[in-house]
Amino acid sequence: MSTSSQIFSFIFLVLITTSFTTTLTLGNNHIEDGQNHLATVQITNSLPNNNSRPTILRIRCSSKHTNLGEKVLNRSDDYRWIVEEKSLYFCAALWGRLFASWHAFQPKRDAGHDSVFWLVEEGGIYLSWDNSSWVRRSVWESE
Ligand SMILES: *[C@@H]1O[C@H](CO)[C@@H](O)[C@H](O)[C@H]1NC(C)=O
Ligand SMILES: *[C@@H]1O[C@H](CO)[C@@H](O)[C@H](O)[C@H]1NC(C)=O
Ligand SMILES: *[C@@H]1O[C@H](CO)[C@@H](O)[C@H](O)[C@H]1NC(C)=O
Repeated sequence: MSTSSQIFSFIFLVLITTSFTTTLTLGNNHIEDGQNHLATVQITNSLPNNNSRPTILRIRCSSKHTNLGEKVLNRSDDYRWIVEEKSLYFCAALWGRLFASWHAFQPKRDAGHDSVFWLVEEGGIYLSWDNSSWVRRSVWESE
């Protein structure tokens, strides 16, 4: 091998290594930036334990493009999903003969929050972004 072809091989190796590293870095950034992971939405059944009333909750959530189907949540169970599209997610819950609906994910309202927590309680549906301070966003209605 001539000196110039050795230099060329060396440069080539360096280039390959550099571009490989760059690809890896970009790959990681892509995941961390959360292009496809906008937020985790979690809905918890916090209905009271009361023998004379049902504690089973039926939930249906969907967005324009995604239908998450019906979920049945026992008391203190939770249901969560990862929001990957920047669109509105609407949920409806059935508790015995009562009905409630709310926006489980709103791109504008929830921007910048990793998690959107919902508590389904006797008094209604409560929102939190930190799983500790709660604000009521919907109430039960009779059908
Ligand atoms: C249980 O449910 C019944 C019927 O709705 C109600 O009258 C009663 O106050 C409830 N008990 C408790 C401890 O919440
Ligand atoms: C809810 O609880 C009942 C009885 O405790 C159990 O049979 C059922 O499998 C539970 N459902 C879910 C979705 O966990
Ligand atoms: C939210 O808070 C509840 C009650 O303090 C706890 O049991 C649960 O693990 C928390 N969930 C998350 C995702 O932090």
